[in-house]
Amino acid sequence: MKKILVATEKPFAKAAIDQIAPVVKEAGYELALLEKYTDKAQLLDAVKDAHALIVRSDKVTREVIEAASELKIVVRAGAGYDNLDLEACTEKGIVAMNTPGQNSNAVAELVLGMMVFMARNGYNGTAGTELRGKKIGIHAYGNVGHYVAEIAKGFGMEIYAFDPFVAKEKIEAAGIKPVDTVEELYSTCDYVSLHIPANDKTKQSINYDLLNKMPKGGALVNTARKEVIHEEELLKLMADRPDFAYISDIAPDCKADFEANFEGRFFFTPKKMGAQTAEANINAGVAAAKQIIGFFENGDETFRVNK
Ligand code: 3PG
Repeated sequence: MKKILVATEKPFAKAAIDQIAPVVKEAGYELALLEKYTDKAQLLDAVKDAHALIVRSDKVTREVIEAASELKIVVRAGAGYDNLDLEACTEKGIVAMNTPGQNSNAVAELVLGMMVFMARNGYNGTAGTELRGKKIGIHAYGNVGHYVAEIAKGFGMEIYAFDPFVAKEKIEAAGIKPVDTVEELYSTCDYVSLHIPANDKTKQSINYDLLNKMPKGGALVNTARKEVIHEEELLKLMADRPDFAYISDIAPDCKADFEANFEGRFFFTPKKMGAQTAEANINAGVAAAKQIIGFFENGDETFRVNK
C-alpha cells in the first residue's frame, strides 16, 4: 500500500485532516501524519518509507529528498514552492507540484484585514483613515492578487495592477487599471500589495528607490515572502520617511529594529497566517491529496512545477 505523508510544522486545521483522510483511504492509500515537528531529524525519519509527501512551508531540502528513497511525488499544499529543492527533486525523478489558488482567498482577506487595522491605528480609539477612494496597487496579478482586487472593490478603492506575465486585457476586464512599469505602480498607489514569488530574480527587489516612489502616507503590504524585501533599504526608508508604513504577514529578520524605532508604523502577524483558515487548509490539503492520487492512478502531472 502506498503511503502519503503529511508533514506540516504548522499543521492544517483538524477539519482539513478530517477531509483529507477519507479521500486518501477511499483511494486505497495509507495516510501518515507528522504535525508540529520541531526537529529536522523527525522529518528525515518520517519520509523514509513515504511514496508521496504533502507539505506547507516545510523545507524539502536535498537532505530530505535523499532520505526519502521511496518518494515519487511531493506536493506543496499552497502557492509558493520556494521551500522545495526542485533541482534535487528533478535529479531523483520526483515530481513536485503546488496547489495554485486553493488558499488564495484566505491570504487576500488578511491583506485587507491588516490594512483596515493599520488605517484605524490598531483600533486604539484615535481617528484613523478610510480605504474608500484610496489607490491600491497589486504587484503581480495571480490568484491572490485577483481576490485582493475583488475585496478592494467592495471597499471602494481604485485598483491598479502590474504583472508583465498577464495580458492587459485580462486585467482591464476585471475592472483594474494595468500599469506598464513597476515604478508606475509604486508612484501611483497609496497601498501596494505584494504577490510576487521569491526567486533569484525577485529576492531583495523591493528596495529603497522603488518604495520611495510611493506617495505621502504610502504603505507596503507584504503577504508574499520576506526574502523579496531589501530589509536594510526598507529600514533606511522607514527612517527617512516618517509617513511610510510596512504591514506584513512575514516579520522581517530586522523586526527588532522596527520595534525599537518605528512604533505605530508597522504591523507584523506573530506567525505567518495568511493561509491559516479552515477553508484554505481544506481546499489546499484535499487538492494535494487528489493530485497525488491522480498522479499515481493516471499519471496526471497538472500543476507540476519541476517540468
Ligand atoms: C503559500 O505560498 O501558499 C502561502 O504562503 C501559505 O503558506 P503556508 O501554507 O505555509 O501557510
